[in-house]
This record gives sequence, structure tokens and C-alpha cells, in this order.
Amino acid sequence: MKNINVAIIGFGFMGHEHLSMLKTIDGLNVIGISDIDKSQYEDVEASVKYYESNEVLFKDPEVDVVLISANNNQHLQLVKEAAKAGKDIICEKPVAMTVVELDEMIAVTKEHDIRFTVHHQRRLDKDYQITKTIFEEGLLGDVYLLKNSLYGFNGNMHDWHICPSEGGGMLYDWGVHLIDQILWMMPDAKIQSVYADMRNVINAEVDDYFKILLKFDNKVTAEIELGTYLLTDKNHDKWFERHWLISGNEGTAYVDGFNPQGKIVRTTRLLKNVSSRRTMTAAGPTRSFGPPGEGVLVTEPLPVVETEHRHYFENYVRAYHGQEEFLVDVYEARRVLHLMEIIRVAASTGHSQPFE
Ligand SMILES: NC(=O)c1ccc[n+]([C@@H]2O[C@H](COP(=O)([O-])OP(=O)(O)OC[C@H]3O[C@@H](n4cnc5c(N)ncnc54)[C@H](O)[C@@H]3O)[C@@H](O)[C@H]2O)c1
Repeated sequence: MKNINVAIIGFGFMGHEHLSMLKTIDGLNVIGISDIDKSQYEDVEASVKYYESNEVLFKDPEVDVVLISANNNQHLQLVKEAAKAGKDIICEKPVAMTVVELDEMIAVTKEHDIRFTVHHQRRLDKDYQITKTIFEEGLLGDVYLLKNSLYGFNGNMHDWHICPSEGGGMLYDWGVHLIDQILWMMPDAKIQSVYADMRNVINAEVDDYFKILLKFDNKVTAEIELGTYLLTDKNHDKWFERHWLISGNEGTAYVDGFNPQGKIVRTTRLLKNVSSRRTMTAAGPTRSFGPPGEGVLVTEPLPVVETEHRHYFENYVRAYHGQEEFLVDVYEARRVLHLMEIIRVAASTGHSQPFE
């Protein structure tokens, strides 16, 4: 099979990450990079071409695929130009700023018969894959609660991420991943209602906190929460927390961290059949929140999963050659984007919104 020649457009943080990753992927070959800021070329070896401009890149017949990792507000124009030049496209998330933009991208890529997919590689995160396995294998019975959360403890938002016109804000940045993870875990479940609280805690112009509640028709309620300004001076080597909590009528699982610690907790028999035990709290006695009987709670390890981000590009090579489907269908990315628009409506009105 012929190697697929890739050129990267937008060679900042993610462009550099892509170059390092793609060097390790059989069947993909990065032949060039393009950035409007030429200082981004300083640390790249001579074997990679530096294009004078995107236009020169689009005219290079050796380029099969463009990998777009420029600022969010650049994606629409770059996708349109790449498609018209006949290049296949992998676009960074959020693929577009609006559904209208994405529909324009889909139309132009269809018109020019372009393979078009989105880099939602967090579908391959280990914490997510473990939670997804627990859900799909029914390890907790009927799941009613899924919580997907990420907290930052240094108040850090940077560069264009604080500029609305460039596609800044945390919903575009991380929200898109956290939402995509939930939707991809239950692709057939319809969302009945959407509640959202979005805040500008310290950034006047872009969101830096959100809590989203999605009520699905499979009886699951998913909660997605992210905050960048939950400060602490205690975790000097730990500036974030990442958590999944998933609970069903046969147990609860805690999945904490990107390289997760955690466990599944079950009861050996239904607690409603256990005689009550009283405990004293500072606020008075309680039975519902008292301790379980001896031996009632048992724990199990989390399932073991094998997953790595490189699988995204390994799938890309196979899908490009028609051996399987692309991991990310652009209409899945469209559903995420559409939901993000409804989330903004729910947040601005203060009212839950229907969806689907
Ligand atoms: N999938 C992920 O996990 C992940 C992680 C980080 C960023 N991203 C996405 O990658 C994209 C880039 O983010 P980043 O953090 O690397 O930003 P960045 O600011 O570090 O890099 C963006 C680069 O694009 C260049 N650029 C802007 N407009 C351009 C244009 N028209 N043509 C060529 N170059 C252009 C800028 O000069 C800059 O060097 C964003 O869409 C972001 O959401 C994805």
C-alpha cells in the first residue's frame, strides 16, 4: 500500500504533537508543514518541507491529506480551500464553530469527493474506555448516572483560548471532547432534555466553567462538569483532577485520573433488605446514611483495557485504504456541535431545552 503523504496546517502546540505522533505511524508520512507564524518552524528537522503559504501547500501534488490544527476560527476557510484543492482532510476539534459552518464544510467535501474526518482522539483515552466498557458490558446493571468531570486548579487559560472570535472558551476546547465521549458511549440513546450552567468566572468574554445535564431516553442522566478556576495551593504536582463516576442498580464505579485509579463497588445483597443501623452525625442521628452491615460492600478492580491515541491514526490508514470505517464520522461531530448550540441556549435562558 502506498504511504499517505500528510501536510500539517497550523504548527503550534497540536501541530507539533501531530508531527511527533505521525512519525511513529506506519503508512502515514508527514511531508510538510504550513503556519502563518514562521517562528513555529524553528525546531523542525530539515526533512520536513516548510511551505511559504497554505496556497503553496494546496498546490503541492505530493500532498494527499491535510491535517488542520490551526485556531478554531480558521477551520472553515481551510477545509473549503483544501477540499477545492482535492486534498483529503483531518480537522482538529471543534471541527467548526457552528453547525451552519460544518454543513458548508460537508457540502464542499462531498462536492469534491473528499475523505473528511475529525480528530476526536479522546475516544481512546484510557479512563473513558474503561468507563465505556463498564457501561457496555452492563457491569453495573441499569445505569442511571454518568458523571464526566475535569477540574483545573491553577486558573490557567491561555493565548487565543480567551478570545471569542478565535473560538476560545472551554466548551469549544474541552467541552467538545467530554460531550463526544458521552454521546459515543450511547450512540443510539436520544437526548430528551438539556440543562446547562455556563460561567465566566474570571474571563469576561469566554466560558471557563460549565455544568451540563443531559437526560437520555435510556434512563441515563449524564452530568458533565468542567472548571478552570477551582484553586488550591496543596497539589503542587497535580494541577488538575479528572473523574468518571458511573452508577447503576448493581453497583458504582469510580474511575479517577487519565491513567486511572479506581474500583467497582457492589453490595452482596440489596441494602433495602438489610435491617437499618443508626449512626450519629454532628447534625443528629441517621439511618439511611449509616454504615452498611458487615460484609455487605465488596469491591472489584476496574476492567483492563488496551488503548492508545495512536490507534486513531492507525485506524485512519486502514480506513483510508477502504479496510474499515473512520473512527469518527463527521455526522457524529455534527451532533456534538448541534448539542453545544443547544447547551448555550439552555445556559443563556436558564431553562432546560428539548433536544432530539
Ligand atoms: N484534539 C486535541 O486533543 C487538541 C488539543 C489541543 C488543541 N486542539 C485543537 O488544535 C487546534 C490548534 O490548537 P493549538 O492549541 O495547537 O493552538 P496553537 O495556538 O498552539 O497553534 C495554532 C497554530 O495555527 C497557526 N495558524 C493560525 N491560523 C492559521 C492559518 N490560517 N494557516 C496556517 N496556520 C495558522 C498559528 O500561527 C499557530 O501556530 C485547535 O483547533 C484546537 O482546538 C486539539
